[in-house]
This record gives sequence, structure tokens and C-alpha cells, in this order.
Amino acid sequence: MTYARIIGTGSFLPEKVVTNADLEKSIETSDEWIRERTGIRRRHIAADGETTSEIGLRAAERAIEAAGIDAADIDLIVVGTATPDKIFPATACIIQRKLGIAGCAAYDVSAACSGFVYGLDVANRFIQTGGGRTALVIGAETLSRITNWEDRTTAVLFGDGAGAVVLQANEETGIISTHIHADGRAEELLHVPTGISIGYEAVQAGEAYIAMNGNAVFRKAVATLDSIARETLAGNGVDKHDLDWFIPHQANLRIIRAAAKKLDMPMERVVVTVDEHANTSAASIPLALDIAVRDGRIKRGELLLLEAFGAGFTWGSALLRY
Ligand code: ACO
Repeated sequence: MTYARIIGTGSFLPEKVVTNADLEKSIETSDEWIRERTGIRRRHIAADGETTSEIGLRAAERAIEAAGIDAADIDLIVVGTATPDKIFPATACIIQRKLGIAGCAAYDVSAACSGFVYGLDVANRFIQTGGGRTALVIGAETLSRITNWEDRTTAVLFGDGAGAVVLQANEETGIISTHIHADGRAEELLHVPTGISIGYEAVQAGEAYIAMNGNAVFRKAVATLDSIARETLAGNGVDKHDLDWFIPHQANLRIIRAAAKKLDMPMERVVVTVDEHANTSAASIPLALDIAVRDGRIKRGELLLLEAFGAGFTWGSALLRY
């Protein structure tokens, strides 16, 4: 059997760091409130002119280097992002050009915070069905561009960053299964109310901002992460105690703790980066994965559960042997 196996990971964070103390100076909030309610301490923010494709490219280059492949070997580029550089072309095409390659398929997936897991699902099926041997999946975001920095209910939550993996067809076990879902009925609980075909005046005025019902999203996220974990484990006949690492979407430490508790997973086996990076949407899972791979926590052959939840609502998971 052919598996899509992760052969390289990479990530990138913009240089500028904004701490909770920095936010205290511009909005009515406190480091204590932010840490208690979210676990977040700081976030990285893209510099003027530092685009999603630019930070996605840097993560991709690191993943390609770690994989030891030539960029020309890539058959597919998928970028999960809610903050593309342009309306079109896709950020994936822009990254393709910046990588100095052409010809392979390249497109974006719009699934908000689930964008990377949706991208993994696409790439996994692409490789398993013989569409190609090598795929580059990136999650990259400049959420700071759609954050209202005067709204304390959202400004404290988000950050910028990128993560990437190179997948390659392999006889050894890699991705065991991916699961993706959506429920569009909850649109208004978490959205940017303006866009191209609706409210374009606000976009032109630079007022396209994330709007969210935090409490409702919180409750839904906890319940959904539990159900997707059950679906994934049951679908593969895997016991939750067999998991080596849990790598959830990094939105809020309380959501992560609740999901880990239901999996009976000690927090030492959960990769947590939300304290350092805040919520980087589609970038959060590949960023966390790369950090735990590079610091030696995650080792070859270990069993990983990746889980995402985001606007749409969208949600998904991947069970894989690293
Ligand atoms: N600083 C200080 N006080 C604040 C702040 C702030 N930054 N923000 C809100 N408050 C106040 C509120 O006004 C409220 O005051 P009140 O009681 O006087 O009305 C109080 O704090 C409590 O507010 P809640 O919204 O009830 O606080 P809660 O404990 O629910 O935490 C939070 C809010 C952190 C947003 C939480 O609901 C959450 O994390 N929800 C999930 C959000 C999320 O993860 N979204 C993204 C997921 S999907 C994706 O990643 C795109």
C-alpha cells in the first residue's frame, strides 16, 4: 500500500513580537486576563509588506530542505489560508513562482483554521490515488491584517505565522486517515462580515475584521474536537491510549486542555504553542508540528493525532505515523 508520509517540516514566524503588556497600552485589557482566559502570552505580527506568500515561502523552504528534495520534485502545492495575498491568483501559485518552479498544480484551500488539515486531506488523497508522488502542504496566515486592533474581544487572540510539510509517496506508514467536515449554518458565529461580493465598501475602507461570538465558538470547539477524535480513533480501531502525541489547533489553552482531558492525554504529550504564537489559524498545526519535530519531542514512527476547528464551521483531523 502507498502512504503519504511526512518527509520534512518547516515553519516561520515574523520577527516582530507583540506581548500582552504591549496590548495593555492600546486596549482595555490585562496580561492576567489574556493568560487566564486563553493561555496566550505573546504573538508574532507581520511587518508592513510581509505577505502571507512571503512567510509561507519561508516555511516551505525549510520543509523542502528538511525533506532533502528538490523543489522541482513537487507535484502539488496546497496552501490553507484565510488571508491570501490577493483575490487571485492563489497564494499557492505565488509561492510556486517564488520557489522557482512551474507546472505542478497549486491552489488554496479556504477552510479558516481547518485549512491545513483540509490541505492534508487533499494531498493525502492525491498521493494515494497516484496523482503525483510529492506534495507541499502549507498553512500560512497574516491574521493581523483582518484583526481590529481596537476590539479587545478579538485583538488579543490572533497572530501571524506559517508552517509547512512535504509529503511523499512511501511504502512505510504515513497518514493513516484524514477526516474533514463542515456545517455552514454557524456562519455568523465566526466570520469576517465583509468581502468581495458582500460589503466591499468596508474592504476598501480597510475595515474587514474578524467578528466572533467567543462563548458559542468555545463551546462548539470543545464538543467538536471530542467528536472528531472519537470518529478518527474508532474509524481506525485505535485506542486513545495508543496515541503518542496530540497536536490540536492552537486557539485557546482551555480548549486544548478540555480536548486533551477527553483523550486522557497528559499535557506533556500535547504540543502547545498558543502561549507563544496565539491563534495563527491554518498555520497553527504545522507550526506546532515543526517545533516539536525540531526540538526532538516527536520521533519517527510515533502515532500523532492532528485536530482542527475553525470558521465555517469547519473541522477535521489526521491520524498519522510520523
Ligand atoms: N480583556 C479584558 N476583558 C475582556 C477582554 C479582554 N481582552 N475580552 C473580553 N473581556 C471581558 C468581556 O467584556 C466580559 O466582561 P463582562 O463580564 O463585564 O461582560 C468578560 O471579559 C468575560 O467575557 P467572555 O467573552 O465571557 O470571556 P470568555 O471566558 O468566554 O473568554 C474568549 C473569551 C477568550 C474569546 C473565549 O470565549 C474563547 O477563546 N472562545 C473561542 C474563541 C476562538 O477560539 N476562536 C477561534 C476558534 S476558530 C479559529 O481559530 C478561527
